[in-house]
Amino acid sequence: MSKDVRIVANWKMNKTIREATDFISKLPNTIAVLSIAMPFTALHACTKNKPPLLSLGAQNIYFESHGPFTGETSAEMVKDAGAEFVILGHSERRHIFSEDSGAVNKKIRQALLCGLEVILCIGETLTQRDENKTVEVLREQLFESLFELTEEQLDQISIAYEPVWAIGTGKPSTAQMAQETHFMLRSFIRDKWGQVASEKIFILHGGSIKPENIQELSSQPDIDGVLVGGASLDVGVFTQIIQNAGNIKK
Ligand code: 13P
Repeated sequence: MSKDVRIVANWKMNKTIREATDFISKLPNTIAVLSIAMPFTALHACTKNKPPLLSLGAQNIYFESHGPFTGETSAEMVKDAGAEFVILGHSERRHIFSEDSGAVNKKIRQALLCGLEVILCIGETLTQRDENKTVEVLREQLFESLFELTEEQLDQISIAYEPVWAIGTGKPSTAQMAQETHFMLRSFIRDKWGQVASEKIFILHGGSIKPENIQELSSQPDIDGVLVGGASLDVGVFTQIIQNAGNIKK
C-alpha cells in the first residue's frame, strides 16, 4: 500500500498567536501534506491564510463534552477553533500530568465523536527499556488506549511511537531499532484489527527528528512519517525537514 510520508509538528507549549501566524506565512508554498499541532490559543488565527494542504491540530482535549471542568477544553471547542486533529497520550501528558491509557481511551472516543482525527502517542521510558519491558509497555499503551475501538474508528487514528528517552535529548533511536519496533506495533494492529487495518494505519516516529535523520528514519518500511518537536519550532529547520522528506519514495 503506497502512502505519502506524513510530517507532523508538535509545537508543545511554544508560540504566541503572532509567532504562530508568522511561522505559517513563511512556509514554502510548495509544501505537501503537513500538519501542525499548536497551542489552543493560536489555532483560530492560523486558519486564516494557511496553505490549503496544511492541517492544524490541538495537543490535548478533555473527554467530557462540556460542563464544570475548570481549565479544560473540549473536542468540540478545538474543532470550532480550526483543529482537524488532536494529539493524545503524549509522554509529557502521561508523565507530567499522570494521564493513563484509560483516560486516553475516553479522549479518543470524544475526539472521534466530534470528527477530529487522532494521533495516539505511545513510548517506553529508558528504565522500562533497560528492564526489557518495552514490548509489554507498548502493548499495554496501545491496546488500552484503543480499547474496544472498531476497525472503522481506526481509520481516523494514527499512531506515533516516541521512545521517551529520545524526546528532546538529541539522541534519536537508530533506524534499525525504530523499524523493529514499528514492525512489532504493526503486527499488534494486524492481530487485533486485521491485515487491511494494519497496512492502512500510519505509524509515525518521534524523538529528536532533525533534517539529518529524517531520510533514514522515514525510509524504513514501517515508518510512515514523523512527529517533530524541537526541530519544528524554527521555520528554516522545519522547511529543511520537509524538503529532505520530499525525496522519499515509499
Ligand atoms: P523532540 O523532537 O524535541 O525530541 O520532541 C519529540 C516529541 O515529543 C514530539 O511529540
